Amino acid sequence: MCRCVLLPDDLTGKLFLPQNYHFHAVLDSTNREAMDLAHGDAPEGTVVVADQQTKGRGRLGRVWVSPPGVNLYFSMILRPPLVARQVAQLTLLAGLALVETLVAAGVVEAVVKWPNDILVHGKKLAGILSEMVAVGERVRFVVIGVGVNVNGHAASFPQEVAERAVTMVDILCQSTDRGGLLAEFLRTFEGWYGRYLQEGFVPVRQGWLGYARLMGQPVRVEMASGVQTGVVLDMDEDGFLLIRQKEGELFRVMAGDVVFI
Ligand code: BTN
Repeated sequence: MCRCVLLPDDLTGKLFLPQNYHFHAVLDSTNREAMDLAHGDAPEGTVVVADQQTKGRGRLGRVWVSPPGVNLYFSMILRPPLVARQVAQLTLLAGLALVETLVAAGVVEAVVKWPNDILVHGKKLAGILSEMVAVGERVRFVVIGVGVNVNGHAASFPQEVAERAVTMVDILCQSTDRGGLLAEFLRTFEGWYGRYLQEGFVPVRQGWLGYARLMGQPVRVEMASGVQTGVVLDMDEDGFLLIRQKEGELFRVMAGDVVFI
């Protein structure tokens, strides 16, 4: 039996309860495990954490490199009273809670990049992968998976990842307690989640925009349907990105990868 090094010591809220906390030394993917638990009857607020992932999932079928002993990999199960198209807002909310947590931990230059990356000086510090199951329009559950590069140096990643990544220890020059960071994130997330369920997306959007450095930037947006270029105008009231194309036409992006050009 391995020691649970990633147990937040003080889970004091109402959403994330110690009895619904699952720690594993090794998993293929915490998102895969959380999806399986959620298909059963795991309650809202279940958290799956692993010290290492052997098949960490990134967005768009990418791999999330997840070595043992250094970084943070976890997934939360939520059962929100939402319809499917609102789930993107929940991912943005997770990004907001994460950037606030990282800034509070000393990474003061951390920003959000739509839809769900946390960057420092253009390099990726953390990523979020949301997966959901809906019945018709109604959401049955959402799994939000979070990976944060904490105590491993970016130079130790495979070369193609190393070039685009940064870690907390690279920035802070000292290691960070992963359990404490997780506890702080869960506290921050719970606060925003409660507010979102009561007040809707408006305050989350406002908070998120405060950490975004996208507006006015020329970008290329890579989507399943093709590629569009333009200048970012705004993130709208639904959480979608508004791009003004060269011809002056507005384009609304619901899902895609944004590349600065
Ligand atoms: C991205 O591509 O930016 C999203 C990365 C999400 C990685 C995290 S690590 C914990 C959770 N489990 C996974 O398999 N993926 C997410």
